[in-house]
Amino acid sequence: MEAEKVYVKALVREQKPVGTQIFSLLLEEKSIASMAKPGQFLSVYCRDQSRLLPRPISICEADPDAGTLRLVYRIAGEGTREFAGLRSGDTVQVLGPLGNGFPLQEAEGKKVFLIGGGIGIPPMVELARRLPGEKQIIAGYRDEVFLTKELSENGELFIATEDGSTGTKGTVLDCIRENGLHADVIYACGPTPMLRALKEYAAQEGIPCWLSLEQRMACGIGACLACVCKSVEKDEHSQVHNKRICAEGPVFEAGQICL
Ligand SMILES: Cc1cc2nc3c(=O)[nH]c(=O)nc-3n(C[C@H](O)[C@H](O)[C@H](O)COP(=O)(O)OP(=O)(O)OC[C@H]3O[C@@H](n4cnc5c(N)ncnc54)[C@H](O)[C@@H]3O)c2cc1C
Ligand code: FES
Repeated sequence: MEAEKVYVKALVREQKPVGTQIFSLLLEEKSIASMAKPGQFLSVYCRDQSRLLPRPISICEADPDAGTLRLVYRIAGEGTREFAGLRSGDTVQVLGPLGNGFPLQEAEGKKVFLIGGGIGIPPMVELARRLPGEKQIIAGYRDEVFLTKELSENGELFIATEDGSTGTKGTVLDCIRENGLHADVIYACGPTPMLRALKEYAAQEGIPCWLSLEQRMACGIGACLACVCKSVEKDEHSQVHNKRICAEGPVFEAGQICL
């Protein structure tokens, strides 16, 4: 059964910078907030009609009681630059929640690694909040850190920075090794080189691993095949070895995808 999603104008409650060119956007949208699962995303539409395609942004936090959603995004181009101009009281067109989200049941009774890299860190906040049990969160940044308060409130936080300004100097895997960390299951989101390295690490260690892929998208709803990645199994839709990241993903079991 296809998951429910809604196409609505969400009210902007708050917009604030949380880092250099990184913004936190708090939206009021009760129905999406009540349905959203960690690892799902919203398609966010621009007002400027020259930018027809929506931009996929992960749900960083969803509060069903308050009816709010938080998105944290980096300005990458014109679409996200437009979002950064939104102010409290404005509205923004969104579609969601989209995608499958992380399979929470895989972590039951297990010791979990939540690994985020760069702008793949935001979905780890809601995931950490919803997962019970022992969680070690490993966050990898280039230099400037963000969302560390939210992450450390929901698990034991370890930081890696490329320039060594905070935590381990190097990658998230350097951080895992430096701190002698071990887990029974891995959930991760971030740039492809990081996911590729984690897939290899998980295979070597024999740890089940779930990866959320970032890919350029167009329709965001499974219709255009702009977002496919190579997969081990055939896609039901196109009958080739592809998975549509927006529809079957963005979260995949590492062994099912080719990175
Ligand atoms: C499922 C999913 C969840 C995402 N969640 C977040 C999030 O929580 N926060 C966040 O900041 N970003 C997130 N992204 C990336 C975000 O969608 C892009 O940065 C955004 O669409 C860029 O739009 P733009 O108009 O500002 O830039 P554009 O002008 O469209 O592109 C500017 C530059 O960014 C690159 N780019 C565009 N899309 C992507 C992408 N998907 N991955 C890597 N590079 C890209 C382009 O190649 C180009 O170099 C997510 C992407 C996906 C697929
Ligand atoms: S973006 Fe169109 S199928 Fe995924």
